[in-house]
Amino acid sequence: MTKVALLGAAGQIGTPLSLLLKTSPLVDELSLYDLVHAPGIAIDLNHIDTPAKVSGFLPENDGLKKALNGADLVVIPAGIARKPGMTRDDLFKTNAGVIRDLVTGVATVCPNAFVLIITNPVNSTLPIAVETLKKYYVFNPAKVFGVTTLDVIRASTFVAQALGEPQPQKFKVPVVGGHSGATILPLFSQSEPAVALSEDQRDAITYRVQFGGDEIVKAKAGAGSATTCMAYAGFRFVTSILKAVSGQSGIIEETYLYLPGIPGGKEIAAELGVDYFAVRVEFGAEGATKACPIEVLSAYEKEKLAIAVEELKGNVKKGIEFSAL
Ligand code: LMR
Repeated sequence: MTKVALLGAAGQIGTPLSLLLKTSPLVDELSLYDLVHAPGIAIDLNHIDTPAKVSGFLPENDGLKKALNGADLVVIPAGIARKPGMTRDDLFKTNAGVIRDLVTGVATVCPNAFVLIITNPVNSTLPIAVETLKKYYVFNPAKVFGVTTLDVIRASTFVAQALGEPQPQKFKVPVVGGHSGATILPLFSQSEPAVALSEDQRDAITYRVQFGGDEIVKAKAGAGSATTCMAYAGFRFVTSILKAVSGQSGIIEETYLYLPGIPGGKEIAAELGVDYFAVRVEFGAEGATKACPIEVLSAYEKEKLAIAVEELKGNVKKGIEFSAL
């Protein structure tokens, strides 16, 4: 029996993500939590003819505890989204406290659950989640991740568009770093299959992957940021973890995580000079089993990597300092 808890289920990412989770054969129980509407969404989803049983909770009557009770995996898109002119970092003031409070619930109710953070700024909210779990002595580095799957999906999509290829999913482009602007680093030199990009194409697609979120924020003109593609990305990551948990081998996804805690991660963190970084990660039944080395970079990527690391250091520090207050 696998129970997934979705915190922030009534939001614009949470609602489509709840639908995708309800359709998953890997989910037996789905509990939805939000400040409003979660019980109604649960009833709505329960009319769908798939086996997962959905329940919905509001903060009243210990709703968070009830939603988290027995959860194997907790996915969190809760919080506010960007408006035009805002960076992800501008969300910190509101969303930092949201993550601290929700993850405190996880630490006390389902400390062994996987924790997947979608809430921005992920570069800082993941360190907050980790510090919160550490305070309760329940941090397991193999199970706590920032979701960067959308960056990987964008890299496949945008490179396919640039090359006029109809099947974006055939391109596997590693994307390392963090999840905002210059911290996102797609490694087109390591694409499988290999892609021959002109320098102009490489620069344009790299920029588009780094700032793809802004494209949507601008187009939505004040109504928010990425929602459906983020729900799709979150679902892909949840699915990969649940497949690994169910015993499937060969599961690899990029994710932003506390590197020193998993095999292979300490060396990468030491080399980069930062403990939190998205890399390709292998998953097994108990979570992350190996952080894959970043491999040989082109001169262009090396330059971008140095910029990503510098920016990330500040984002991580901000999250850790918030947690120390
Ligand atoms: C994205 O990458 O689209 C999301 O992180 C939302 C945002 O604020 O850009």
